[in-house]
Amino acid sequence: MSDRVIAIDGPAGSGKSSVARAVARDLGWSFLDTGAMYRAVTLEAVARGIDINDADAVAAIAESARLTTLPRVTVNGRDVEDEIRSDEINVAVSVVAANPRVRAAMVSRQRDLAAAQPLGTVVEGRDITTVVFPDASVKIFLTASLEERARRRGEEGEDSVARRDEADSTRAASPLRQADDAIVLDTTGRDVEDVAQEIVQWLKNNVSN
Ligand code: CDP
Repeated sequence: MSDRVIAIDGPAGSGKSSVARAVARDLGWSFLDTGAMYRAVTLEAVARGIDINDADAVAAIAESARLTTLPRVTVNGRDVEDEIRSDEINVAVSVVAANPRVRAAMVSRQRDLAAAQPLGTVVEGRDITTVVFPDASVKIFLTASLEERARRRGEEGEDSVARRDEADSTRAASPLRQADDAIVLDTTGRDVEDVAQEIVQWLKNNVSN
């Protein structure tokens, strides 16, 4: 089924979500923001007063919580779309995302969600090209300068963005890294539609069906 997946990875603020949404819209495919899933699990753990360093307790939430990302991000029926972008979650999410049991639960859900789509899915995150869909039809690694990425993240600020990048790239479980066969696109100074068109064109030129 990976022939119906476009996998996009990259650091914070590299343009993954906006570009993935635009590509999905153009193709009529579904879109999956896997970062929202890690953020929602983190929020649920924090809301229940669980210590995010308690790996088993956090994993139990990842394994049992009801999660949706579309049309809104919800966890156990509660709309958390806005809350998951708070400073508190920006800080905590990298710890939760480094938990191997949390990752295993998320990867399995992500594969199931993509498999249930009638057409195809544009999936974006940190380990999509390397772990979740290593055989995707198109594998993209988005980058941009730290200055521009921090600007796009607005209130989060450059220090927090840099700290998350460092944590995500150096963790033992599925670190953020460029897959050998990924197409690398630097989005610094480029607009979303321009990058999305390049990806759609690449799919049309290289993938038959
Ligand atoms: O949008 P932004 O790049 O700021 O982050 P995000 O995509 O919402 O992801 C938030 C956090 O979730 C990241 O900093 C990673 O720690 C984690 N994440 C991950 O580990 N694996 C993924 N596939 C997606 C996100």
